Amino acid sequence: ILPNNVTIIEVGPRDGLQNEKKHVDEANKLAFIHALQRAGIQEMELTSFVSPKWVPQMADAKAIVEKTEKVGRQFVLAPNAKGAELAIEAGARSVAVFVGVSESFNKNNINRTTDEAMDALEPVIQKLKKDGVFIRACISTAFYCPYEGKINPDDVVALCQRFVAIGADELSVADTIGMANPKESYVLFHRLKNELPNVLLTAHFHDTRKMALANIFASLQAGIDRFDTSAGGLGGCPFAPGATGNVATEDVVYMLDTLQIETGVDVKKVCEAIQMIAPHVSRPIDTAMYKLFLNE
Ligand code: HMG
Ligand code: MG
Repeated sequence: ILPNNVTIIEVGPRDGLQNEKKHVDEANKLAFIHALQRAGIQEMELTSFVSPKWVPQMADAKAIVEKTEKVGRQFVLAPNAKGAELAIEAGARSVAVFVGVSESFNKNNINRTTDEAMDALEPVIQKLKKDGVFIRACISTAFYCPYEGKINPDDVVALCQRFVAIGADELSVADTIGMANPKESYVLFHRLKNELPNVLLTAHFHDTRKMALANIFASLQAGIDRFDTSAGGLGGCPFAPGATGNVATEDVVYMLDTLQIETGVDVKKVCEAIQMIAPHVSRPIDTAMYKLFLNE
């Protein structure tokens, strides 16, 4: 049985742009964000408070948060105490922390081992929770790691449990380099649903091998009703070799529309948002629904 409603968490302004080599102006980022809001997006990752030396594209995080119209739930990423502090100063009320299951990925992405990262995040999360901030925990490399290969699902469950124990409200479980298949997706999400019944569970698929829509269908069957997607299929982690874009918002919403699953998101308006950002990114945007929109 499939759900009647699905929540789309738009990650284009963050995951979509963080890997973009060409500098995208603040004004163009804001226009993209506001166009996505007009398309009906109620939950969105706006930006990241990470080191501007590591990810120069996110250096304008403060201005982006301050100038974005307040609509629905707006996430900002923070890797550590400093990021969390800057996020709160800018007015963020929902913070996404991120740790991978794979040790080598964490060393490359945040320059910390998994335990170092978790030990440092625990007091940060506790403080944010005390102030009523919503905590999303992004679990990278939950299926495969670019450095370590296949990940043991027991390790994914253990990391998820640790995050829930320290107060995470939501887990966004990610196929960082787009290698999962539908069977692995079903099995992992079915297990997480059973073992972690009291947390919001979200699936985050990258579409490197064009398996993401199939993985989403499998996850729907496992009871997942929240998906991270990126308008235009933009995206990828700069510290995960081989990572390409997230599954495209417009293609996911189209599939859900045909399944009569409500999202509140308008495919045509998502395409209008893509049209605004397309001239400012170096990657050609060639998702199925965007191509149809352009040929209309
Ligand atoms: P580090 O070099 O070990 O940091 O980097 P440090 O703690 O030693 O500090 C070094 C300098 O950075 C200091 O400044 C700090 O103040 C500054 P200095 O004294 O040299 O002038 N600094 C910061 N500045 C701004 N904001 C901060 C911050 N923290 C320290 N938050 C660090 C460690 C975590 C900072 C770095 O590795 C980093 O920024 N990594 C971010 C990597 C990233 O953004 N990756 C992409 C997001 S995750 C992702 O895409 C996956 C996801 O989509 C799910 C999936 O698909 O898997 C979520
Ligand atoms: Mg990602």
